[in-house]
Amino acid sequence: MAGVQDSRLAVAVSNAGGLGSLPGAMFGLDAMRQELAHLAAHTTRPYNVNFFCHTPPRVNAERETEWRAVLAPYYRECQLDAEDVPTGVSRAPFSAETAGLLEDFKPAVVSFHFGLPSAELLARVRAGGSKIFSSATTVDEARWLEAHGVDAIIAQGLEAGGRRGMFLSADLSTQVGTFALLPQIVQAVALPVVAAGGIADAKGVAAAMALGAAGVQVGTAYLLCPEATTSAVHRAALRSDAARHTAVTNLFSGRPARGIVNRLMRELGPIGAAVPDFPLASAALEPLRANAERQGRGDFSPLWSGQNASGCREIPAADLTRDLARR
Ligand SMILES: Cc1cc2nc3c(=O)[nH]c(=O)nc-3n(C[C@H](O)[C@H](O)[C@H](O)COP(=O)(O)O)c2cc1C
Repeated sequence: MAGVQDSRLAVAVSNAGGLGSLPGAMFGLDAMRQELAHLAAHTTRPYNVNFFCHTPPRVNAERETEWRAVLAPYYRECQLDAEDVPTGVSRAPFSAETAGLLEDFKPAVVSFHFGLPSAELLARVRAGGSKIFSSATTVDEARWLEAHGVDAIIAQGLEAGGRRGMFLSADLSTQVGTFALLPQIVQAVALPVVAAGGIADAKGVAAAMALGAAGVQVGTAYLLCPEATTSAVHRAALRSDAARHTAVTNLFSGRPARGIVNRLMRELGPIGAAVPDFPLASAALEPLRANAERQGRGDFSPLWSGQNASGCREIPAADLTRDLARR
């Protein structure tokens, strides 16, 4: 889970018998090497390293101006000068450099969000012996991933917290809930399918397995664990009744993602037409977010959460992992 964890959460989950995941999307190469070294030094169990594989967008000056115009009232309110707010790219896709880094660590599993990297990069990952997983949000995406040689498919239902892995269509009406998506993908492909979205306790795990899942991917339930780096405002929102109202929004980064409805989502509506392409949208929000967070408010923060935050508990990730696996 990019932005809310480093290797500590992954270590705890792997050592408890789960497949801990290290998110690569928001670490630079040096930080990633350090995190991988920490992970490799603290577990002998299999672990997963996850990457985004989007095509980096070209900055569109007109769109950027439009987006800043939408945000202008907030800049004024916070006494920020829109001219001083930098543009920038905050999330790099999987690259030759990252593939080179993986060759030193050879994780048991490498997973991708937003499709797959080029065939050449994928072959390098495979040559290191890693199994390749990727997220599908529709049956078409699952079939595409199977045809492109993945070893397992993560069926990401619409309940899931964080970014939607959708990559063949940008149409949100194609998105399906976990327990409708999972059996259809199980039927459509010959690969193991991992269920993701809304699974927060052992009963949810059992239900997914009964529908043909080979495993489950749980995100939201881990957000309050002490090993997660979830921010104070994000933790407070997850603990509050606000966590019962989430929506899919593109406001924070330019791609649809599910988070707790906050002031920005309420006032602009969760999907904005002027929002720059992923991941360019986030730069313009950064100072607003920092300013509000300093005052203990998550008004402009991405408060990623799935629709079922009932499994969030302030307990060590190892205990949560064992509870999820209890029969
Ligand atoms: C805070 C947060 C960050 C996430 N970041 C990523 C990510 O970097 N890569 C990824 O493949 N999925 C990411 N996801 C999605 C999860 O992998 C998973 O699909 C989802 O959490 C499952 O649904 P649940 O949140 O209802 O448990 C994220 C989810 C959350 C809640």
